[in-house]
Amino acid sequence: MRLLVLGGGGFLGFHVAAEARRAGHDVTVASRSGEAPFDGVEALAVDRYGDLSPLEDRTFDAALDTFSDADAVGRAAGLLAGSVGAYGYVSGMSVYHPDGPAVPRAGDPVRREGEALDDDPLQERSLAKLAAEDALGAFDGPVSVLRVGIMVGPRDPSDRFTWWPVRLARALAGRASRTVLAPGDPSRAVQYSDARDIAAFAVHALASGHDGTFDTVGPGRAQPLAAVLDACLEAAGGRPGDVTWAWAGEDALRDALRDVEEEARPLWFPEDQIPQDAIDSSAALAAGLRFRPALETARDVLAWHRERGEPGLAAGFDPTREAELVARCTTGTAPTG
Ligand SMILES: NC(=O)c1ccc[n+]([C@@H]2O[C@H](COP(=O)([O-])OP(=O)(O)OC[C@H]3O[C@@H](n4cnc5c(N)ncnc54)[C@H](OP(=O)(O)O)[C@@H]3O)[C@@H](O)[C@H]2O)c1
Repeated sequence: MRLLVLGGGGFLGFHVAAEARRAGHDVTVASRSGEAPFDGVEALAVDRYGDLSPLEDRTFDAALDTFSDADAVGRAAGLLAGSVGAYGYVSGMSVYHPDGPAVPRAGDPVRREGEALDDDPLQERSLAKLAAEDALGAFDGPVSVLRVGIMVGPRDPSDRFTWWPVRLARALAGRASRTVLAPGDPSRAVQYSDARDIAAFAVHALASGHDGTFDTVGPGRAQPLAAVLDACLEAAGGRPGDVTWAWAGEDALRDALRDVEEEARPLWFPEDQIPQDAIDSSAALAAGLRFRPALETARDVLAWHRERGEPGLAAGFDPTREAELVARCTTGTAPTG
């Protein structure tokens, strides 16, 4: 397959290009920089708001777009109609209506413009994604829309998952406290996807000519936060009991973290912000989506973090702030295991 990745230098786009190359496909990426993410990939310099001529007169078996601006998405889809066999688009699971089913799936109600959701930080972004999904109507062949949730893994700029194995490795090495703040309670359901798994599914869906909307939030069912944190502890070289989890109450944390951006919270969102904690990815699983275990993701992000020279993390808390939050928000501490 000859695959065009619009945005192929970004977090997910990089992994799509890598998975496609691994599967033996030819890959072209398009972004403003015009830089190939690695050897063996053709790169085109394209500004989605400007001149798209580098995409003209080109044919591809498939194209994947990760962009959010609806006009730009529609423009590219229209330009590539007739010269690309199948189209893929990366949307988000926050498009589902907060008052919809507890376990939403494709076809369920989505957000609408002009609703009383103006204070919801997800509203604007979600409406943009919905408009972009609609704009794909400019394409004339099969379109697979992948609605993703929190994407994690190597190269994740948010560090929302990376925080955990890194924080735990610091604790085990004596560089941070062994009392570790944890959000909510151990049974709290948590969902995320390793971007490499989404990428592999995107490549598979395009190569198979799938047509439809897929929820792609892992790991296929919600898992308890404690299980994910224990996997992160194991990845860091620890065992249950090596650290003490300081479980912070939902209400206290919501108050304490009002000023903290969504992406700076390590896998923790106020329950009223993202009510869907059990996205149903069964259609995508039936179509070939596979999720790797938390332990593998945790080991790989820790290795990637060390390779990149262990910079400060975009998510999480400095030691003083974490200690303050433990003192202010926890009702008790408990070892895992
Ligand atoms: N991360 C998550 O947890 C999450 C959750 C839900 C949905 N999503 C969605 O998933 C998608 C994932 O994308 P990603 O992670 O790969 O994004 P990303 O890391 O932000 O990468 C963006 C890519 O687009 C290119 N780009 C940006 N502006 C451009 C322009 N004007 N013209 C042409 N290219 C441009 C960038 O390269 P240049 O800078 O060189 O142009 C880069 O290659 C996004 O649409 C995001 O909204 C993500």
